[in-house]
This record gives sequence, structure tokens and C-alpha cells, in this order.
Amino acid sequence: MSGTQDNRILDLEGAAVLITGAAKGIGAATAAAFAARGAVVYPTDVDVERGRAAAAEYGAAERFKVLDVRDEQAWEKVVDEMEAEGHPLQVMVNSAGAAIRAPLADTSLEGFRRMVDLNLVGTFLGVRTAARRMVDGGAVVNISSLRGVVATAELGAYGASKFGVRALTRVAAIELAHRGIRVNDVCPGSIDTEITAVPDFDHVDVAKYVRTIPMQRRGAPEEVAEVIVFLAEPRSSYITGVDLLVDGGTGAGVTTPTKNNPEENTEN
Ligand SMILES: NC(=O)c1ccc[n+]([C@@H]2O[C@H](COP(=O)([O-])OP(=O)(O)OC[C@H]3O[C@@H](n4cnc5c(N)ncnc54)[C@H](O)[C@@H]3O)[C@@H](O)[C@H]2O)c1
Repeated sequence: MSGTQDNRILDLEGAAVLITGAAKGIGAATAAAFAARGAVVYPTDVDVERGRAAAAEYGAAERFKVLDVRDEQAWEKVVDEMEAEGHPLQVMVNSAGAAIRAPLADTSLEGFRRMVDLNLVGTFLGVRTAARRMVDGGAVVNISSLRGVVATAELGAYGASKFGVRALTRVAAIELAHRGIRVNDVCPGSIDTEITAVPDFDHVDVAKYVRTIPMQRRGAPEEVAEVIVFLAEPRSSYITGVDLLVDGGTGAGVTTPTKNNPEENTEN
């Protein structure tokens, strides 16, 4: 390697990895994937019971920490504790998030603020913590969404928060590059988790939606987790400031409706 700033982490084995929203879904799968590489995983969440139970499956129950990503002091405390335990922050994955679904006309101010506060401010606090406390050569992976790339009706609040995450990713990538810290995000399409198990999403026709995905299926959390791990590994050492779509081809484009397929692959 001939680069003059090659202070990146060389191996995930033993690397200290902080993951938010690790109690379930993409965050839990990501924590397990890092643990499988020998990383020292610090799973965090507001859901203590499920967080500890998930962590126990990959041997990190004792490192689980309560972290509400909207709480500025809580971020400091978790990173202080990691350092006190001999594991200064090397990798951060910002997966905590939630979604609401409604036309703008029916979106409450409270709901809009909740999305921005959790998905965008929570990620901001994470990225800022990385900027202040991460060791040189580390990596941050944020979770945006395909809905933060392609504007989607009824996902105004969620989409605004996720478009914002992509902006933060790029600014942080530019600002932290000189320290060898890479900052990227993944933009998942439809992933099979509990995030849409709320009444707002009851009217979505999932079967019809799946027919608009070129790969004709939803993704598994593990398929996103593998990409997140890749973005933290030396294998992606020259990638920073990018959005990596993990969406079965949905964001690639559209299919013109024909008389044979009037409703398939035309969602975007
Ligand atoms: N599932 C999808 O289809 C999909 C698609 C695109 C993007 N995403 C994004 O991926 C991320 C993970 O989503 P998921 O599908 O795994 O959802 P999920 O609901 O399965 O998991 C979200 C986790 O975040 C935690 N959380 C909620 N509020 C929190 C807070 N204030 N502080 C800390 N943790 C909190 C929850 O307890 C939960 O464990 C989210 O940012 C989501 O927007 C998901």
C-alpha cells in the first residue's frame, strides 16, 4: 500500500464496533455479522430486553448498552464506557430508526418531528460522536433508505429524514477523510423486518409491491448486514461518501407498462 495516510483499521478481528438499533432487524443482523468476524461488538438500543437477548446469540450480552440515539449525553456515556473497557470506538453503524406513512396533508407536526429526531438527529449525534471520538482509520456506516434516494408518496417525513442522512454521510466523509475515517451509507429497499409492522403500513399491498422489485422478492436483514460489514472492512478502503443501494434492483429504473404487464415494475 503506497498511500501516505494508510492508518485504516486492517482487520475487523478485535475491532470495537458500536451499533445502534441492534435489538432487531438490520441492526441485530449487522451486530451478528460483525461478531462472526471476531469484532468486539457493542450492541445498543432502547429495547433492553430484546437487545440483550439478541446479543446473547453472538456472545455479547454483557456489552449491550442502553442508547437512545436522540440523547446527546447517552452517546458520550457509551463511548466513555467503551474506552474505559479498553475498546475505543473504531466502527459505528447507525441503524436505529422507524417509519411513519401518511400523505403530507395528514402528517402531524409531531409525527414529522419524530421522524427527523430519530432518523436524522439520531444519526447526526452518532456521526458527530465519531468525528469527536473515533480512532483514526475507523469507519462509519449510516442507514439511509431507497426512500432517501427516490421520493415516495406517503413517505414525506421518513423520506426527508433519509435524504438528510445521505447529506450527513457525504459531509462527514469529506471532513474526516484526512484522518482515514470513511463514512458511507447503505440504502435498503424493502427488507423483511418489523419496521412496517405498524398500522400506517396496513394498506400497503405487499404482494403487488414485491412484483415491482426486479428481483421479485424482499431482502433479508442479513443481506444488508453483509454490505455494511463490507463498508467497514479494508476491502472497501478507497470508498467513502457513497450511498450503496441494497434493493434488489428497485432503484435501477423502471419498466414501461405494456399490455402484458400493466402493473409490474412500474412503481418508480
Ligand atoms: N426494513 C426496511 O425495509 C428498511 C428499508 C430502508 C431502510 N431501513 C432502515 O434500516 C434501519 C433499521 O430498520 P429495521 O428495518 O431493522 O427496523 P426494526 O424496527 O426492525 O429495528 C429498528 C431498531 O431501532 C430501535 N430504536 C427505535 N428507536 C430508537 C431510539 N430512539 N434509540 C435507539 N434505538 C431505537 C428499535 O428498538 C429497533 O430495535 C432504520 O434506520 C430504517 O429506517 C429499513
